Amino acid sequence: MNNNDKSANRWIHRLFKQSNVLSATPESTIYFARCYPADSSLQGRSPFSTLFSESNNKPSEAENHQRVFGQKSPLLTDCSDSPEAVQICRSNRLPVPNEAVLSAQYTVLNCYDETPDVKTFRLGRLDGQSVDYLSGQYMTLTMAISGQEFKRSYSLASSPARAKIIDLTVKRAPNGGIVSNWLNDHLNIGDTLNLKGPFGRFSCVTHATEKMLFLAAGSGIAPIMSMLRWLVDTEARMDVSLLLSFRSPADIIYRDELQLIAARHQNIKLAITLTAETIDYSQWLGLTGRINEKMIANLVPDLPERTVYLCGPDSFMAMCKKSLLKLNLPSSKLFCESYTVNSPIIKPQNSCLNQPLRHETGNYQVKFAKSGKTIDSDGRVTLLELAERIGVLIGHECRSGQCGECMTKCLKGKVDMMDQAEIDEVDSKKGWIYACCTYPASNVELDV
Ligand code: FES
Repeated sequence: MNNNDKSANRWIHRLFKQSNVLSATPESTIYFARCYPADSSLQGRSPFSTLFSESNNKPSEAENHQRVFGQKSPLLTDCSDSPEAVQICRSNRLPVPNEAVLSAQYTVLNCYDETPDVKTFRLGRLDGQSVDYLSGQYMTLTMAISGQEFKRSYSLASSPARAKIIDLTVKRAPNGGIVSNWLNDHLNIGDTLNLKGPFGRFSCVTHATEKMLFLAAGSGIAPIMSMLRWLVDTEARMDVSLLLSFRSPADIIYRDELQLIAARHQNIKLAITLTAETIDYSQWLGLTGRINEKMIANLVPDLPERTVYLCGPDSFMAMCKKSLLKLNLPSSKLFCESYTVNSPIIKPQNSCLNQPLRHETGNYQVKFAKSGKTIDSDGRVTLLELAERIGVLIGHECRSGQCGECMTKCLKGKVDMMDQAEIDEVDSKKGWIYACCTYPASNVELDV
């Protein structure tokens, strides 16, 4: 935080969102703040944002909204040099709340049709508690359909600034998608769901920068929308470019809200491109065709200065990454989340540009020793997914290498575990793997 500018002896700090889930230590809390010289002509023109923490003396709700630097303000004077603040800002590993905080029952407060095949479910906790999460994170839903238990992860599309509600935007999956289709067809106001989370590191909150580019396709817009709504709710006037891809005008999720946000905020620029070949484009004045290098270069000439958040199906992600790479985006500025039927798979920052979205290790056989079942693999499907296909039970929660629930012992053969698996090195050397992000790299035998 730059408090050294001698030209301005007073700085106005606005504090937003006080959230207990972000605590780096039991005593500290993270705040989001925007600060600028007290000279009103500069307010909003060139703000910068940062995260900082407070170690004690929590301010009242009213005090949180506006403070003037220079007055008695232990929060602000302490935080600028706070070691916790530096640590939190630079960390891309978020603290995970304990089990009791993670699991809760939610009730459906409302349902909205976003497009013909996408619905948003607005949920609130049954116990009336607030929901603490970072914009862009996701939760895991556990439910039984026809006697079988399923777990699926869904990004939160809502803004954490509205702490009593969360929005899950769910797209019907034409080929299967048992849970997503069930939710679209059967979930009603008043129904109850079991959710666990939040999980995930795909959030602009942990990497707050002045300039951002949000790239999304289809239902991949959900976590992006959470970030955008949060930036709008907190009046964080970062320079944001949105480049979104949908099939047709009817498929544009949150269309009215996106246009309203862009119309009201000069710092947010919206571009939507449509990709379907068989629609009538006479009524469409926007972009057409898939996002490519030329389109990004034209719309975002200052790309290397921006932090990019990318979310969508694998093919879309691959194309965008290729283009971003050619346009000299540093890998440290790219954060990705890919979607496989509404289940986000987080890609860690530094492997984002250079690793394939899905491993293709080859054709192998996977044997599950305890259940005596065997399945052939083409090397493109994780061991967890293979187990699910033949009804072998492997516990799981996050499906993204963070919770350790899917930890399984590999008895024979070689495996390829993605970097995102946060497994202990000692466990890994003993043959333990996280099945949700591991692929067979030879014929393998697992201890399940
Ligand atoms: S399900 Fe969480 S690490 Fe695999």
